[in-house]
Amino acid sequence: MTVLSLKDAAFVAHTPLFKNLTLSISPGDRVGLVAQNGAGKSTLLRCLAGEIEVTHGDIVRSRGTAVGYVPQDVGPDLLHHTFHEAVLAALSEDMRGSDGWRVDMVLASLDAPQTMHGLPVSALSGGWQRLMLLARAWVNDPDVLLLDEPTNYLELEKILLLETWLASWAGDTPMVIASHDRSFLDAVTNRTLFLRPDKSRLYSLPYSRARDELAHMDAADAAEQDRDLKEAQRLRRQSAKLKNIGVNSGSDLLLKKQKTLRERAEKIEDAVTALHSEQAGQIRLSNRGTHAKVLVRIEKLTVATPEGRVLFKVPELNVCKGDRIILLGRNGTGKSTLVRLLRDALEGSGDVPGIRTTPSLVMGYMDQALSDVPEDRAPFEFVAGRGLNDARCRSSLAAAGIPYDIQSRRIADLSFGQKSRLALLALRFAEPNFYLLDEPTNHVDIAGQDALADEIRDLGACCVLVSHDRAFVRDVGTRFFVVEGGMLCEHESAEPYFASLSRSETQTGANC
Ligand SMILES: Nc1ncnc2c1ncn2[C@@H]1O[C@H](COP(=O)(O)OP(=O)(O)OP(=O)(O)O)[C@@H](O)[C@H]1O
Ligand SMILES: [Mg+2]
Repeated sequence: MTVLSLKDAAFVAHTPLFKNLTLSISPGDRVGLVAQNGAGKSTLLRCLAGEIEVTHGDIVRSRGTAVGYVPQDVGPDLLHHTFHEAVLAALSEDMRGSDGWRVDMVLASLDAPQTMHGLPVSALSGGWQRLMLLARAWVNDPDVLLLDEPTNYLELEKILLLETWLASWAGDTPMVIASHDRSFLDAVTNRTLFLRPDKSRLYSLPYSRARDELAHMDAADAAEQDRDLKEAQRLRRQSAKLKNIGVNSGSDLLLKKQKTLRERAEKIEDAVTALHSEQAGQIRLSNRGTHAKVLVRIEKLTVATPEGRVLFKVPELNVCKGDRIILLGRNGTGKSTLVRLLRDALEGSGDVPGIRTTPSLVMGYMDQALSDVPEDRAPFEFVAGRGLNDARCRSSLAAAGIPYDIQSRRIADLSFGQKSRLALLALRFAEPNFYLLDEPTNHVDIAGQDALADEIRDLGACCVLVSHDRAFVRDVGTRFFVVEGGMLCEHESAEPYFASLSRSETQTGANC
């Protein structure tokens, strides 16, 4: 039975995001929605959720269908609620009294500790905020789930929990899941929709196998077009020859025949449409370098919550030139709090006992919430005035994946991946010699994740990074620190930590 369907649907924003999209979603379907940043995944999910209308075609929900929609971001309205209240508020008012037990059940299914239920959402880690959004969708017992990048902000342990949760609790509830996380898509989906402006492609396969099929089909399309164009050229050559002979000999028959050949060539050429090409924006950084050997020295630092609850201690840590330090640890252990302490110390905005920096240090900082990116300004305005002329600003933005026609709109209207790309572009212009990045790959598409890793590595940039992305961590890190047992401990590699997440064992071999 079809729960939700799209018929010949299209959405035109500043440019067509998708068109002629026809899709039926039935129980058991788990559709991975894949496309580059700014391609329209969130827009499509919002259309399916009934938040906005498609600009052409129809979306049909079977009668009484309850849609559970998990947006890409938490938004400001829920931040002051407690975790429990935020989930309870997702129930209709008349259900809150009688069906409040549902909230406890959903929170228990997600292994949310009781002590966390009373915390304000703003105090939850990014990962728990995402799971809160999932709980809000699930508490209403939906017939279909729409998940917009559900693994963003989740560290690996929580990604594995989510995979298990989707397999056990969600049963055969149909789902559409937008994601840039290849392993997650492979683990949880059975269909894949590659969203494209002209002709989207749907496969009854999980991501990696669908990607192979897509590459195969794109290559076959390209070969067919090549053949068609060669045939059109042949017809045109023949037509030109006949025209010469026809004119010289005054033969109407030959002239008529050359016209027919030319028309056939034109018909073939008209039928050849531009092939889809992934125009992923570039990600480029810069490194002004430094003569200092040690950029940041941490000694006897206590990392605590604003209320003074001690999260962990750092006995000693020297961040040296060329170090690419990865901070690992479960959601809520305080990695982001350490990053904020470092930022305060490095910006000189607060005297942080236990952290000293070299005077030549120039920091490039990016946080999970992209709080340095002003939502009300335009991308062009944001990057202008950094010593670049207007043309260079515009071309740099376009190259980064923010097309000309949206450069003067509000940043709030950009997709999340485009906002991340904008933040990274601003970092490049700041020419830092030390990068402090909290989950920089969140929201960034697959090509962008690879490009960011290459760029950090190739520049030899000194950095401290928080990331849950295994491929990224392995690719970029030179030193690995894990928050465990109230201490920040150094490990030879990230592998023991990754392995411990599935085993849930205490780790060994650490240098705390
Ligand atoms: N309210 C809006 N007004 C104008 N343009 C918008 C609006 N919302 C989205 N867009 C534009 O539509 C395009 C698609 O945005 P969308 O958020 O759907 O992309 P996405 O595929 O989800 O990207 P990401 O991977 O970065 O999350 C973007 O270029 C964005 O700037
Ligand atoms: Mg999106």
